[in-house]
Amino acid sequence: MSFVFNTTKSIVNAPNAASEIAEYCYKLNIKNVLLVTDPGIVSLGLHQKITTSLQDNAINFVVFSEVEVDPPTEVIENAISFARNNNIDGVIGLGGGSSLDTAKLIAALTDSKQSLNDVFGIDKLENSRLPLIQIPTTAGTGSEVTPISIVTTGEAMKMGIVSSVLLPDIALLDATLTIKLPPHITAATGIDAMVHAIEAYTSKIKKNIYSDMLALQALTLMSKNIQTAVHQGENLAARSNMMLGATLAGQAFANAPVAAVHALAYPLGGHYHIPHGLSNSLVLPHVLKFNMPSAAHLYAELAEAIIPDTCSTLDSDTEKAEAFIQHLEYLITDIGLPTRLESVAVTQDSLVTLAKDAMKQERLLINNPRPMNEADILAIYQAAY
Ligand SMILES: NC(=O)c1ccc[n+]([C@@H]2O[C@H](COP(=O)([O-])OP(=O)(O)OC[C@H]3O[C@@H](n4cnc5c(N)ncnc54)[C@H](O)[C@@H]3O)[C@@H](O)[C@H]2O)c1
Ligand SMILES: [Fe+2]
Repeated sequence: MSFVFNTTKSIVNAPNAASEIAEYCYKLNIKNVLLVTDPGIVSLGLHQKITTSLQDNAINFVVFSEVEVDPPTEVIENAISFARNNNIDGVIGLGGGSSLDTAKLIAALTDSKQSLNDVFGIDKLENSRLPLIQIPTTAGTGSEVTPISIVTTGEAMKMGIVSSVLLPDIALLDATLTIKLPPHITAATGIDAMVHAIEAYTSKIKKNIYSDMLALQALTLMSKNIQTAVHQGENLAARSNMMLGATLAGQAFANAPVAAVHALAYPLGGHYHIPHGLSNSLVLPHVLKFNMPSAAHLYAELAEAIIPDTCSTLDSDTEKAEAFIQHLEYLITDIGLPTRLESVAVTQDSLVTLAKDAMKQERLLINNPRPMNEADILAIYQAAY
């Protein structure tokens, strides 16, 4: 079996690791840091551990805290101008996927002649980047270990920049930063991470032994901990397991890419600003049901990992796969996420447009275990309505 596997060079997993950030800046020879985050993180004071460590160790820093959720092109361009005006030599991303994705593009484009418009797509970045440390505060996108940034272009399109240049130097996992993450964001971002594991495990072209191992372990950890993380947010063990699970899932899908769940989720984010994880959750059971003829044996393997007791009472792959989908539906309901497109204000007459837009996500649809055409996609949106 031939495959390539790439990941972030160094992963640090320790509660309070963010308080030691200066140590990691020294290792990467960063003396003038740009800290990239969003206003929500700043209002919670989550950046303070980092700024204190930098101050105490006489490392210069400036803060860009204007990242928006699902960052649009203008925010990225403003952030890059800010970085150029401040003579920085390293970047720290702090936040959810929106902040981490912005930090990656700043690191890649600040000292480059290329503009953001030049680099959409796969392998378009021509230069190396500034040193980059990523500190996730959601568990989550896995952006700290992926070579991907997602940007909202125009009114409603989400486009990816994919390049090994974007793989950070250090992923710093400090689960204490997620203790105050509200239940609905914990739920949505947690399902996003679980979908990364599921879609990596069934990824049609690049699935490999490393991505399988990571996806299985990620899904096992997160399926056991997501309910506690949502209902008892202060539980550090559950938060740590979710954080680690999300990173493992990120490593898996960075190498065995996600597929139709994400392809159908993106238009919901683009048109309706439904949070990324919730968009995934809304279409997840319906896409998996569609995939059954091609992927039941793989869903059965995932079922063996997360609901072994149920599986011991079942004979066929189809039954185990059905139990797997039912268990996901149970988790989604238990953690309080809405389950119908109708209940998040999606209009029925927009489903045709959503299906057309989902078809544009060829980069993702080619990874789906079962081929999907526009009529199939429309039928899935209708089933989810
Ligand atoms: N790069 C990748 O590989 C990749 C993969 C999947 C998704 N994405 C992208 O990531 C973005 C979504 O990221 P996300 O779901 O992590 O959320 P986010 O970064 O968009 O943040 C969502 C909200 O959560 C708040 N928040 C974050 N951490 C918090 C904390 N610890 N406590 C309280 N509030 C907190 C933020 O302030 C924000 O308001 C989307 O743009 C999506 O397309 C990227
Ligand atoms: Fe995702």
